[in-house]
Amino acid sequence: TDHAAHLGHSGTVETVANEVTAAPPVTPFSVPLPVPPTLAPTSTTADTDFYEITSRTAAEEILPGFSTEIHGYGGSYIGPTIKAKVGRRVVVRHTNQLPHPTAVHLHGAHVPASSDGFPTDVIDTGATKTYEYPNNQPAATLWYHDHAHHHETENIYRGLHGFYLLEDPAEAALNLPSGEFDIPVLLSDANIDADGQLVFISLDEYGRTTLLTNGRPAPYFQVQARRYRFRFLNASNMRVFNLVLGRQERFTQIAGDGGLLPAPATVDKVLLSAGERAEIVIDFSRYAPGTQLVLNNTRNLNDPSRPVALPVLRFDVVARVGQDTSAVPATLRAHPPLPAATRVRDVVLSYHTAAFPFAINGMLFDPNRVDYTIRRGSTEIWRITNPVTPVAVYHNLHLHLVQFRILDRNGVPPGPAESGWKDTVFVAPGETVRIQATFTEYLGKYLYHCHVQDHAGTGMMALFETVA
Ligand code: C2O
Ligand code: CU
Repeated sequence: TDHAAHLGHSGTVETVANEVTAAPPVTPFSVPLPVPPTLAPTSTTADTDFYEITSRTAAEEILPGFSTEIHGYGGSYIGPTIKAKVGRRVVVRHTNQLPHPTAVHLHGAHVPASSDGFPTDVIDTGATKTYEYPNNQPAATLWYHDHAHHHETENIYRGLHGFYLLEDPAEAALNLPSGEFDIPVLLSDANIDADGQLVFISLDEYGRTTLLTNGRPAPYFQVQARRYRFRFLNASNMRVFNLVLGRQERFTQIAGDGGLLPAPATVDKVLLSAGERAEIVIDFSRYAPGTQLVLNNTRNLNDPSRPVALPVLRFDVVARVGQDTSAVPATLRAHPPLPAATRVRDVVLSYHTAAFPFAINGMLFDPNRVDYTIRRGSTEIWRITNPVTPVAVYHNLHLHLVQFRILDRNGVPPGPAESGWKDTVFVAPGETVRIQATFTEYLGKYLYHCHVQDHAGTGMMALFETVA
């Protein structure tokens, strides 16, 4: 299983702990896919865009006919999308009107430590903090989410997540589908009770049975018979998504976490562990108007080797309006080799018995302990292992500050879908994944952690410090 029977829970204990009367099931494809709105800057100067976001409680109709209390950026389950440009600074003034602390992390971004949303660098209720983002990295689909110590997993679950789309002229020149044909899609899951309320229970993977796509249960989306770009983000706490279109249709993956791949990859699935992104292009001109194509999550929580079909989104193809002038060029972005590594480190995603469930190298998170001191500008290889344990548990590893490249997984180089920049890497039970990163530019303490939020929140997180 993906993460069965944690903490010594037997099936019975799990049932008791999760005794919540669930909301009635929703007929799939009964609501349209909402697209999160783009946030307008409050002001701009020659080199900077300024934004303001207030985190607050609000009511949202997540399931049809129910009003659900959410904790959201701007009062939405999915926060407003920030569109940033490489080379232009973004400054976001975050105000916290929630009854608990928050800390905002821009996942995947190179940012100074003071703006990275360190878990103890929180915004208390009623307070405001300003975050500065230099945007000095290639175009990518980034996302912002909560990181407040001991609150992050529940804060994200209740809605503290949103897209941050970084754009650059090189990518724009490729003429990929854009504007209304470029759609961010946030995937999450929830345990919703009979009153329509979000139920948060730690390590509740079997209780979070409602899959949400941009905050709605299995919505439909009307598409013209032309190319679309979709930016998928797995923002769920622990679920793995394996996205399959129709009866295993083929489509094109163009980007991973850190932006464009070297070249487009023809794929028939997208596998996303928690925190990862993948961008794909689907050419709906191959389907007659009237065609309905369902995107399913085929990952079976109980046994990943036995696929299931859980609906995520249905595409309803309609006639094209006007010409489709977009393209997917044969090369997307050069990825020159990284400088040679001067250091190799071993990172063991360890799973111990009850007292110490999820740790890194046998240690629980301590915001005052630095495990790795790294000279600025140096390049390192990290060898990340998820040992086989009696109960197989999947993990991944996310590094703050840097984007890395995957060298190999159990000795085998990654496939095309993982050949670009990454900031989060899936590590299945029994796997060792080697990554290489250059720790450039900013000095300070940064996190690395499993992005299964319930694992990170219960200790599977550690610090490195970059020094001059
Ligand atoms: Cu997406 Cu440290 O997080
Ligand atoms: Cu984990």
